Amino acid sequence: MTHPDLTLLRTPPKAPTTLRWTGTALDLLDQTRLPQEVTYRRCEDGEAVREAIVTLQVRGAPAIGLAAAWGLALAMGEKDDLEPNAWRSALEAAADRLRSARPTAVNLAWALAQQLKAIDGAGLSGAPGRALLTETAARLQSEDERVCATLGAYGASVIPDGARILTHCNAGALAVAAWGTATAPMYHMQAEGRPFKVFADETRPVLQGARLTAFELAQAGIDVTLITDSMAAHLMSRGEIDLVIVGTDRVTANGDVVNKIGTLSVAIAAKHFSIPFWVACPLSTYDPATAEGSDVPIEERAPEEVTHLGGQRIAAQAPVRNPAFDVTPAALVTGGIITEAGIARPPVGAALAELTAS
Ligand code: MRU
Repeated sequence: MTHPDLTLLRTPPKAPTTLRWTGTALDLLDQTRLPQEVTYRRCEDGEAVREAIVTLQVRGAPAIGLAAAWGLALAMGEKDDLEPNAWRSALEAAADRLRSARPTAVNLAWALAQQLKAIDGAGLSGAPGRALLTETAARLQSEDERVCATLGAYGASVIPDGARILTHCNAGALAVAAWGTATAPMYHMQAEGRPFKVFADETRPVLQGARLTAFELAQAGIDVTLITDSMAAHLMSRGEIDLVIVGTDRVTANGDVVNKIGTLSVAIAAKHFSIPFWVACPLSTYDPATAEGSDVPIEERAPEEVTHLGGQRIAAQAPVRNPAFDVTPAALVTGGIITEAGIARPPVGAALAELTAS
């Protein structure tokens, strides 16, 4: 595979920055307030970062991993004087606490594992250990930006001019350090001056599509049309969608794709109408240690996300289910999986294993 042209990608799109390190604290763009307000939540300790992840103030698989990496550095803030063994135990406990914030996206565990690996590799503890945690979090954040820019260029190479693209949830710049995953090919095409159009599913119940994807694409000047989730199959049946591209929270060894609830319905409809279904993700989202999608814990969130809108009850009194993610079988990923190392074509499980072996 030829390497994509990255010369167009020096300036990230005009989305507000998701994570900002101040030198002593982490400022997180509060995504629960978008699109009405662009405000930042200042996190000065590990617990504040954990709470921001649990409440979706920061969300999206790579972004929660990066937040946790910074959160670990903050969590070790007042522990510089501990003996090396006690410091290492405190680090492990803080990592466990952050890891438990959300169970489905593997990037959270991946980023914390990168932190522990850096510490163990350097054999540091105390203040120098904490400095290394900060340095590693900064490195992970700039790598995420580079990785997303690269996969965006690969993605743009498989999208035809004039494509009408459907996306689900927000796998955008707001979900990562910059560029996004599913949106990175769109930003790349925009930089190349190529025509395309995006349909964004609203993504019930938390409305990441309506509140976040439509917001960031419109801000960047991309032609985006918002639809409700139930409209996607209808547009496909009328020949109004050329391809689907989504992000993911975890891809298992067999190529199953775990992503925001509703992704499976989109993939089934796309298969029915012979519309290519693509997934874009950094390799940090690939989890070869988990055999298949049914092995992945699916987060079940509060019923109020379903029964209430804008603080107002909209539903009758009835039991509620609220699984936040679903599993799209590898066989429905008919386009391929776009990564920073190139594109894994179907069968995507085997292709990903091959891409990562080299
Ligand atoms: O619950 P969320 O908003 O964290 O879910 C996010 C998604 O499902 C995204 O599609 C996924 O994390 C990919 S983000 C690049």
